[in-house]
Amino acid sequence: MEKVCILGLGYIGLPTAGLLAAKGFSVHGVDKNPKVVDAVNNSYPHIHEPGLSNLIKLTVQSGNLVASLEPVHADIFIITVPSLITKEHLPDITHIKEAIHAIAPYLIPGCLVIIETTVPVGTTEKIANWLSQLRRDLIIPSITSTISRIDKEKQIFLAHCPERVSPGRTLIELVENSRVIGGIDQLSGQKAYLFYKHFVCGELFITNARTAELTKLTENSFRDVNIAFANELSLICANLGINVWELLKLANSHPRVSILDPGPGVGGHCLPKDSWFIKHAAPELARIIHTAREINDCMPNQIIVQIKSKAAFFQEPVIACLGLTYKSNTDDLRESPALKIVKQLLDENVGEILIIEPHIDALPKALANHDRVKLVDLQEGLAQANLVVLLVAHDTFKNIEENILKKKVVVDTRGMWLLPD
Ligand SMILES: NC(=O)c1ccc[n+]([C@@H]2O[C@H](COP(=O)([O-])OP(=O)(O)OC[C@H]3O[C@@H](n4cnc5c(N)ncnc54)[C@H](O)[C@@H]3O)[C@@H](O)[C@H]2O)c1
Repeated sequence: MEKVCILGLGYIGLPTAGLLAAKGFSVHGVDKNPKVVDAVNNSYPHIHEPGLSNLIKLTVQSGNLVASLEPVHADIFIITVPSLITKEHLPDITHIKEAIHAIAPYLIPGCLVIIETTVPVGTTEKIANWLSQLRRDLIIPSITSTISRIDKEKQIFLAHCPERVSPGRTLIELVENSRVIGGIDQLSGQKAYLFYKHFVCGELFITNARTAELTKLTENSFRDVNIAFANELSLICANLGINVWELLKLANSHPRVSILDPGPGVGGHCLPKDSWFIKHAAPELARIIHTAREINDCMPNQIIVQIKSKAAFFQEPVIACLGLTYKSNTDDLRESPALKIVKQLLDENVGEILIIEPHIDALPKALANHDRVKLVDLQEGLAQANLVVLLVAHDTFKNIEENILKKKVVVDTRGMWLLPD
């Protein structure tokens, strides 16, 4: 049984660990957060993802999945720790550096190191350099190296294979999505290909590490730019007195037009960050990408202006905010525009705020210091509010009766209810 050591048991690492353990690998999951390690070892995933609870229970109980604070010797190392951007929008790969330092003592000749985290272009080469410094006894391939027959016995392999799943569908997409594998050299690419072939039924494309890095950034930036186009149209429509949802329905009836939906901004851990990674790599050239970022970043403020103008109708506004997560049907609050909007409304004391977010049990820390906010259920929120703001298109909000909404002042940032103007 091949041994896999995975660093970072979050939204990506934990489902991957469970899946590999179910496929018969002996999986050693590592996280620097002891709470995560304890939760996994007690068969209790700390994140919500369809199918994950059962998978973790089965694989921990079978003995194929163990969590720990420290790595072990393994045949395959997978890095799924986060990459970040600083406040100044610069790439921060500190977690990756830490993870590479942590695994370095445990690498054995012939092992394969895979970076699944989305990274700035050139990071896999940087990792090869770090490993060459940390393990002078091993041969670490690089894009330029040719390895002699004797050295091959001391060689390890290194590849970047960015994760492409969408939370909420992670366990399905880990298997079904096609994947891009960027070997630091050809042999590393082939080694990684053989590994993914065990559990991926989507197509596997082998390329070099830099191309794989930019491919992933491009995918997320594509969505960021296209959402910015939709958001810009929504601002233009508001200015011209045109219903943007009707406009999009009509424009999208053209066989070669497919505009995405506008909304209150772009959040999550990935999309905003990845566009900044491209901007950082080519500051003079990434002009559309940069402008798109600026448009998406200004959307929460635009929505706040709309909400404030409607709240001004009431002497005592009671605002039901539907959804707090960064996208529909998830519990993930990272970089959520909805959360930014609510926080700003509270900071400006716009009214009493009722949060309706069926995917969380308690309000996040960012809102904890405010006393004019409560987490309530849908029924209570709709009964008490005079202003209803839809921020996230969770499925549960689809079936709210039109009769109820007609009695309220409504701001629908997702075009879910399409009420007549
Ligand atoms: N979440 C997504 O939808 C998604 C999709 C595709 C790609 N990705 C990529 O995957 C990366 C990870 O995302 P995520 O959502 O799983 O993050 P996450 O925050 O849910 O999980 C990361 C985990 O890594 C742990 N960690 C941090 N540094 C560590 C270290 N040095 N050693 C061991 N553990 C460490 C953290 O404690 C945390 O539990 C992202 O940065 C992104 O590049 C994410």
